[in-house]
Amino acid sequence: MKSAATMEKLVSLCKRRGFIFPGSEIYGGLANTWDYGPYGVELKNNVKRAWWKYFVQDREDMVGLDASILMNPRVWEASGHVTSFSDPLMDCKKCKERVRGDKLLEEKLGIEGVAGKSLKQISELIKTHKVPCPKCGACDFTEARSFNLMFKTYQGVIEEDAAMVYLRPETAQGIFVNFKNVQQTTRKRLPFGIGQIGKAFRNEITPGNFTFRTREFEQMEIEYFVREKEWKPRYESWKKDVEHFFEKILKISKERIRWRQHEKDELSHYSKETWDTEYKFPFGWGELSGLAYRTDFDLKQHEKFSGEKMEYLDPETNEKIIPHCIEPSFGLDRTVLVALLEAYDEDEAPTEKGGMESRVVLRFPPNIAPVKAAILPLMKKDPLGPAAREIFETLKKNFAVEYDESGSIGKRYRRHDELGTPFCFTVDFQTVDDKTVTVRDRDTMKQERIKIDEISALLLHYP
Ligand code: GLY
Repeated sequence: MKSAATMEKLVSLCKRRGFIFPGSEIYGGLANTWDYGPYGVELKNNVKRAWWKYFVQDREDMVGLDASILMNPRVWEASGHVTSFSDPLMDCKKCKERVRGDKLLEEKLGIEGVAGKSLKQISELIKTHKVPCPKCGACDFTEARSFNLMFKTYQGVIEEDAAMVYLRPETAQGIFVNFKNVQQTTRKRLPFGIGQIGKAFRNEITPGNFTFRTREFEQMEIEYFVREKEWKPRYESWKKDVEHFFEKILKISKERIRWRQHEKDELSHYSKETWDTEYKFPFGWGELSGLAYRTDFDLKQHEKFSGEKMEYLDPETNEKIIPHCIEPSFGLDRTVLVALLEAYDEDEAPTEKGGMESRVVLRFPPNIAPVKAAILPLMKKDPLGPAAREIFETLKKNFAVEYDESGSIGKRYRRHDELGTPFCFTVDFQTVDDKTVTVRDRDTMKQERIKIDEISALLLHYP
């Protein structure tokens, strides 16, 4: 029986085992920043690689891109982010706590779809329902005001308005502004898409829940260009691809994932239809990915603001059209968090003295496990240490493996259980005689002997 992870247990495991550390910790931290440690970065890279392979490399209708974080500020005027990318900010007059009016209503009153309500409506609802401040309990807020979520900075040596640039709040616009470059250089025909993984920044009023909502985060986004008349079937097919990625590649349990459609007044300014996949986090259902039908909004806006044509000459009709766009967008940090939550389990393992002890184990699918296998000599000294090292040196050419000789075998197994290492190969005296090792399976804890020559094939079988 799989035991549910709590956020507290997960945060503690992540720190203890080098997955995720609090940001700037030696200086007392910086609120809501997190640093991926040695095993966290491997896990994150594996999730990125799995996403890139499935959505970009394996598809003939997809290509990749890596655009700049800093863009001409006119991009954000065209995209609508300067005017529309804001949250309703309210201050508690008593304790000065800053809150997001819409989130407060959602959390305290269970009202959904608040995102589309006007600032006036949000202020009135909070007053009417006497919603208390989450910090001090008073019911005395300022009127809701619009707070733009984009981070601003200055490019160059002079801090003046003309040098102001934004840190991109979504990677998507790097794709839209390169639409012509990519289409002309790859000669892709509709429908085709462009995928990109990269950092984005949002000055969230209330970040939180570990890496779920942070101000600096990484997105994995696709802008998929279609003819207007074909958007619906393509949209439905993207839904299936998104499901496949979560269920078959990341092995996320079906019962903890659901689709939720955005209410009309909740839709982003560019979207005509959006469905989110949500995951059942320990703190409730939360967005994991979004699938938006952005129509021809972005390309048309860029044509208008830049003066550059964004047309595509359709070889089927010989007409110039502005393609429509479907956008599957994934939060990478959230996907990594889900991978950790899904993997977390507690059970019992035999001790070296013949008893039982409780263990924490991360049951990652091997494709995303930070370490694929550990090579453990029963003892450091000759001939076991050198024999184990030789196996490690061969395997490391093709696999992410670790050589681990410190501590008792039991302790080393516990450590690798907590890192989610699927296989441990133990080198003992029999290894020297007959070129076999024991392989211990992380999940079943069963051990069997296999030939050294068979190890690579076993690891390739569980990529
Ligand atoms: N590009 C969609 C989003 O950032 O939410």
